[in-house]
Amino acid sequence: MPIFYDIMSKPVTKPNNPNFSSGPCAKRPGWNINNLRTDTLGRSHRAKLPKQRLLDVINLTKEILQLPEDYKVGILAASDTGAIEAAMWSLLGARGVEVLAWENFGNDWVKDIKDQLKPEYLTIHKADYGKLPDLKNINFDNDIVFNWNGTTSGVCVPDADWISPNRKGLTICDATSAVFAMDMDWSKLDVVTWSWQKVLGGEAAHGMIAMSPKAIQRLSEYQPNWPIPKIFRLANNKKVIEGIFKGETINTPSMLCVEDAIDALHWIKSIGGVAGSVEKSKKNLQVVKQWVQSKDWIDFLAEDPATISSTSICLKITADWFLKLSDDDQQAKIKEINSMLDKEGVAYDINAYRTAPAGFRIWGGATVEASDIETLLPWIEWGYQSIKP
Ligand SMILES: Cc1ncc(COP(=O)(O)O)c(C=O)c1O
Repeated sequence: MPIFYDIMSKPVTKPNNPNFSSGPCAKRPGWNINNLRTDTLGRSHRAKLPKQRLLDVINLTKEILQLPEDYKVGILAASDTGAIEAAMWSLLGARGVEVLAWENFGNDWVKDIKDQLKPEYLTIHKADYGKLPDLKNINFDNDIVFNWNGTTSGVCVPDADWISPNRKGLTICDATSAVFAMDMDWSKLDVVTWSWQKVLGGEAAHGMIAMSPKAIQRLSEYQPNWPIPKIFRLANNKKVIEGIFKGETINTPSMLCVEDAIDALHWIKSIGGVAGSVEKSKKNLQVVKQWVQSKDWIDFLAEDPATISSTSICLKITADWFLKLSDDDQQAKIKEINSMLDKEGVAYDINAYRTAPAGFRIWGGATVEASDIETLLPWIEWGYQSIKP
């Protein structure tokens, strides 16, 4: 049962877990470091047992996500950034490229493609924070690079219906804040990347990549004319580095992070697999939606309800007095509220991303309990009412 308070009185109940960061995200309920296996630590990652544990991550991932049988999954270096950059560096340039960007990370990939890779034909589809680019205006003869969820704006693609089933190009999707939390149509995605530190609540370390047969085929038919650092190399002279998909990482992984990822994957299984974790995330968003609907001073940054993210839930203050402030003053007010909440130990790291408009960002992935979000929201109201002129 939700508890209601007088508008100005300080709430009494605090969330059991005040960790609402959008990455690294809260550890799973019940997480305990003593649950992690340690017999792989201090050993070569190429030895039989550690290699098997790396392979366990791959196999569990495939099983839980119900990836098509012929998709390959690999572990790469440098978290999601490493995985998406390996994909871009190794695959782009064979065809024209279209890149979609509507927040910080998409904008980063635009910069990489435009300024570093410089493909011959490039179209950039950009939109402001809160919006999506026009998804009807894309030529699927080209390779398409996009984020499933814009973590810094809380805007996600509503589905994969806009992606052509008969595309000639590849779809390369940075889905780090979507995988395990949102339903994804794998048949429309040729390359998907993510990290362990988001929905799984794992440790930030390695990047994951899933590749369709078409993407793998590209590696054996095409070699880009730009330099590819070893760490991004998925093929050598058009020969796919198969080891990547068998637990033979390009460089040395942290086996402790590997054990933590396995713990997280088993937990996802225990809550009903990906259906269970998607459901948890939807429920978290639902709690915030109900609250937002009952307030006249706060709203989602996402303008179209179909695009509201259930993981990085981004909110903006819409009250007149607030909108009249300069950007800097808006940021300062939000910071004031968040410092109060931090000091009370009720919410850590809920400030909007540093390049996003002033606001709150609450993680709603599966490791966050709906009851904690429910308990947090009156505190945000209390903070807001306290700083309101
Ligand atoms: C959409 C998106 N892409 C990339 C990144 C970078 O991820 P990592 O730090 O795991 O490389 C993030 C991190 O929040 C993200 O949200």
